[in-house]
Parts: sequence; C-alpha cells; structure tokens
Amino acid sequence: MSHHIDLSGKVALVTGSSRGIGAGILRALAECGAKCIVNYVADPDGKNLKDGQSVADGIGGASIMECDVGDDTQVAATMQRVKIEFGGLDILINNAGILRDRSLAKMTHAEWDSVIRVNLTGTFNCLHHATPILRKEGRVVNLSSVSGTLGFFGQANYSASKAGIIALTKTAARELAKQQITVNAIAPGFIDTDMTRGTMPDDVVRKFMEQVPVGRIGRVEDIVNAALFFCSPQSSYVTGQVLHVNGGFFMGS
Ligand code: NAI
Repeated sequence: MSHHIDLSGKVALVTGSSRGIGAGILRALAECGAKCIVNYVADPDGKNLKDGQSVADGIGGASIMECDVGDDTQVAATMQRVKIEFGGLDILINNAGILRDRSLAKMTHAEWDSVIRVNLTGTFNCLHHATPILRKEGRVVNLSSVSGTLGFFGQANYSASKAGIIALTKTAARELAKQQITVNAIAPGFIDTDMTRGTMPDDVVRKFMEQVPVGRIGRVEDIVNAALFFCSPQSSYVTGQVLHVNGGFFMGS
C-alpha cells in the first residue's frame, strides 16, 4: 500500500503492536519511512513475543521492546531505552487496550481496576514518560472508542477508561502545543480484530451492523488511515481532537 506521507527519520513507538490495530499502524508508519519500535506485553505462553517478532520481521527488522504499559517502572525504563537507542521519540501511538465486560452489578473491582490500569493509566504512563523525550513537532495518537462517548451496556470499566482518554488527550494537547507537538484521539467503532472476533453473538453483530450507515464492519486499515493523517506533517494545526471512525454509527461531536 502506498501512503504518500514521508516520515523518514522519524522514530515511532506503537504500544500493543504485536497484533490488531497497533500492528497495522506500525506497518504503515514503517512504509512511510519511520524507524519503528514494536511493543508487546509478556504473556505466559510467549505468544505476544512471537507475534511481535513476526511484525518486526515483516517490516525488515524493527526494534522490539517488552513493556506492560500499566506498569509505571517498565514504561519509564522503556522510554529511557528509546532515548538511549534512538536519541528521542517523534511519534507515540497509545494503542494498548483490553476488555473485561460485565454488567455493573456483576463487575468485580479486579475487572474494573484491570481495564482502567491498562487503558487509562497505561496511556498516562506513556504520555508522562514520553513527554521529556518527545521531539519538537512530535505526534501523539491515543486510541479511544465510540464506547467512551456512548457508554455501552456491560462496559462500565472500558467506557470510563476510553472517556478518560479523551480528556487526557485534550489536556496533553494544551500542554505540549508549545513544542508544536499535536495530541489527538481516534474513536473507532466496531473493527474486525481479535478484540471483537468471537466476543459478541452473530445476531448481536448483525443488529449492530444494521445501525452502521456504510453497511460494513470496520477494517484495521480504516483506523490506520486516520492515524497516518494525525502523524503526518499535513495535520500540524489539528490538536486535541477526537476523530470518530465508525462508518457513521455515531455522528455526534
Ligand atoms: P487487540 O486485542 O487485537 O490488541 C490489543 C493489543 O494491546 C494487543 O497486542 C495486546 O497484547 C496489547 N496489550 C494489552 N495489554 C497490554 C499492556 N498491559 N501493555 C502493552 N500492551 C498490551 O485489540 P485491537 O482491536 O487491535 O484494539 C487496539 C486499540 O483500539 C485498543 O485500545 C482498543 O480498545 C481500541 N479499539 C478497538 C476497537 C475494535 O472494534 N477492535 C473499537 C474501539 C477501540
């Protein structure tokens, strides 16, 4: 795929880029010439490392860094490593995210905490430790969700985390604007990835699709294209915004 955006010389880190939307964004940034860093979180069977390595190999050998974004100490060490190995950071994509759906009455504190920890605190940790190494005219893109605006049934933890990311995006946009660093959020609708595959019964998915004006489920490349715009020099006057990429499912502001 040709993207016509020149990011040569830029250093890009995408959290949770061993699969799904993160891997798609990372591949596209590499195609635009950026030096890319794959991030994965360790898991018991080593699948994330294997997936991360195959993403890195697929783009001709990106750097690969293990880091749990919810762990402040690991994030600090990762950003330090980025500084030592690359001299700084130009593009940060806060993509890592998890779901632990359950109705309010049944949701445990552990389920609440785990989602807030990865999605919201993880985004804060990365922003907090990346800020000192982000270079002038840098780009930050945070993955929110339509669930963060509408609040979906069974997603109290997830919706709250994704709404928090929108507020965090706006604060960061104000604080980093002096260095011409832009901070924006993408709020995907229903995108076909491991996160959504198999999580909803077919008839629920069908009913959901009936409410999507463009009449199809979202693809990873739909989100990739939005991320590329935010990472490009062409978006230098766009900051603190939330771009809804959902086939028209939600058209509010
Ligand atoms: P996915 O489940 O396929 O990928 C998530 C990635 O995050 C995985 O690589 C996973 O290993 C990584 N991750 C999880 N916990 C982590 C941690 N503590 N530290 C570092 N990495 C960690 O999900 P998908 O669909 O690619 O989602 C990417 C982002 O887009 C997420 O933030 C998600 O909430 C958001 N999103 C996705 C939608 C969808 O329909 N797929 C809709 C709206 C938002």
